[in-house]
Amino acid sequence: MALTVIEHPLIQHKLSILRDQSTPTKLFKELVDEIAMLMAFEATRDLPLETVEIETPLERLQARRLSGYEPVLVPILRAGLGMVDGIRALVPSARVGHVGLYRDHDTLEPVEYYFKVPSDLAQRDVFVLDPMLATGGSAVDAITQLKKAGAVRIRFLCLVAAPEGVAKLEGAHPDVPIFAAALDRQLNDVGYILPGLGDAGDRLFGTR
Ligand code: PRP
Ligand code: URA
Repeated sequence: MALTVIEHPLIQHKLSILRDQSTPTKLFKELVDEIAMLMAFEATRDLPLETVEIETPLERLQARRLSGYEPVLVPILRAGLGMVDGIRALVPSARVGHVGLYRDHDTLEPVEYYFKVPSDLAQRDVFVLDPMLATGGSAVDAITQLKKAGAVRIRFLCLVAAPEGVAKLEGAHPDVPIFAAALDRQLNDVGYILPGLGDAGDRLFGTR
């Protein structure tokens, strides 16, 4: 399934501020939310609609609204949490599941530590959130867990993707569309994205 890089000028402008190492934690969090919200506008473009009859102050109307079960946002802990509020501002009815993973520093392999999602995943559109798609190990593992739990319609949203991560995710889950604000050049030898924005979790939560 295709990678979509969302080139909107507002996203690119905000992403540049986000990448700047002098951007403080508070602004970093605000920008992650804002970019996630703008990306969600594109990533939700094909959500199903149904027709309902409503009454305007002037006449009756066949209007359209989102149909079916509420979508689910699934942030990959920790850094994915930073994208939730922005998207929920746009889709307030969305449910939120959580997948806890961290990368082992030596092997770069994901280590699972938490999994809690709605039970009726098969009926819902699932949006997996993580600012960084680096080696792709975390995204592939999270999506594998979600499919085992019943998810069928899954999209992956990240802010910065590395070509290595995109290739790995497309190879493992070709049915999952990937949305990114940027496709960067490469990974360095310890699995960080270049030019990237550093450690997204540390910058969001002020740890280091
Ligand atoms: C970061 C990031 C992704 C993962 C990406 O999380 O938020 O989850 O690395 O790397 P990958 O594509 O090579 O798997 P990290 O493991 O640092 O955990 P954290 O969010 O708790 O800081
Ligand atoms: N995780 C991050 O937070 N940043 C990277 O560049 C790679 C993985």
